[in-house]
Amino acid sequence: MRVLSGIQPTGRPHWGNYFGAIRQYIDLQYEAEEAFYFIANLHALTTVRDGSRLRQWTLDVVLDLLALGLEPDQATLFVQSDVPEVSELCWLLMTGAPMGLLERCHAYKDKKARGLSADAGIFNYPVLMAADILAYDADTVPVGEDQGQHIEVCRDLAASFNHHFGETFVMPKAKILDASARVPGTDGEKMSKSYGNTLAVFEDPAVLRKQIMRITTDSRPMDQPKPPETDHLFQLYSLFADEGAREEMAATYRQGGFGYGEVKKRLAEVAVAYFDEPRRRRKELESQPDLIRRILADGAAKARAKAAEVLARAKRACGVGL
Ligand code: ADP
Ligand code: TRP
Repeated sequence: MRVLSGIQPTGRPHWGNYFGAIRQYIDLQYEAEEAFYFIANLHALTTVRDGSRLRQWTLDVVLDLLALGLEPDQATLFVQSDVPEVSELCWLLMTGAPMGLLERCHAYKDKKARGLSADAGIFNYPVLMAADILAYDADTVPVGEDQGQHIEVCRDLAASFNHHFGETFVMPKAKILDASARVPGTDGEKMSKSYGNTLAVFEDPAVLRKQIMRITTDSRPMDQPKPPETDHLFQLYSLFADEGAREEMAATYRQGGFGYGEVKKRLAEVAVAYFDEPRRRRKELESQPDLIRRILADGAAKARAKAAEVLARAKRACGVGL
C-alpha cells in the first residue's frame, strides 16, 4: 500500500479534524509500505489570500502533525510547493481534462450556484489534486467523504492518459475516512471552521475549559434519564474516555439525576489530559526551527525524487521533450 494525502493549511486543527482525519493518517503510517503526507499550500492559495497568514498556517500544520505523532521516518512529510514537478504534471493532465467533468465538481459548482465569480484556480483544483496523487504512484488516498468526487476525477484523468499514451499512471483508490468519526461541535451541529463551533486541539487549557462550559445542552430537568447516544456532550466525552469510563457515563445518563455541568467538567479534564503530551511536544518543536527545516527538506527531497521519475515517465509517454 502506497498511501498519500494532503492537508490544506487553512487554520488550526479542531477535534473534528483530529478524530475525523489526522489520527487516521497517523495510524496509516504504520500500515503502509510507504506514506506521503503533504501540506497543500497551493490548494489553500485558492482561498487564503494573505501571504504571511498562509506561510504561518503552513508551518503550523507541520508542527501540529509532528506533535500529534506523525513520524518523519515512517511517513514522508513535505510542503506541496516544494515539489515543482507536480505543477508541471498538472499541465499535462489539464490538456486532457474535459471542461464538463470539472464543471461538475462541487467546489466550482457550488460557487457558481451561489452567483459568486469563480477563478481558474478553483476550476482546476481537482486537476492539481490529481497531479498530487499520480506524481507519487499512490494507490491509496485517505480522504473525507467530501473529497471522494476529486479522487474519481483523478481516476478519470489517469485512465484517459493511460488510454491515449499507454500505461503510465498507477490507478489510485480513495479510502474514505470513517464517517462514524463525525465529531459534533459546541452547538451539536457538525464541528466545522465555517460554523464557528470548533474546539481546537492545541487550545490553551483554561480557554478550552471555558469553551466546554458553554457547550449547548437541552433544558430537560436534571432528574430525568437521558439517552446518551444522541447527546453531543456524551459523544464528545466518548472521543476521549476509555471503554469503562464511557460505560459509566452512559449509565449515569440512563439513570438521570445528574447535571450537565458535571459532565462538562469531566469532559474538560479528559480532553486536557488527552492532548497534554502533544501540547508539550509542540512547544518543544516550536523551539527547534532547524530540526523542522531539516525534516521538510528531507521530505521534499524524497518526494521530488519520486515525482521526477513519474513526470519523466509521463513526458516520455506523451512526447514532451526529446
Ligand atoms: P472544516 O469543516 O473545519 O473546514 P476541513 O474541511 O478543512 O474542516 O476538514 C479537513 C479534514 O477533517 C477532512 O478530511 C474532514 O473530513 C475532516 N473533518 C472536518 N470536520 C470534521 C468533523 N466534524 N468530524 C469528522 N471529521 C471532520
Ligand atoms: N483537497 C484536499 C482537502 O481539501 C487536500 C488535498 C490536496 C489532497 N491534494 C490532495 C488530499 C491529494 C488527498 C490527495 O482536504
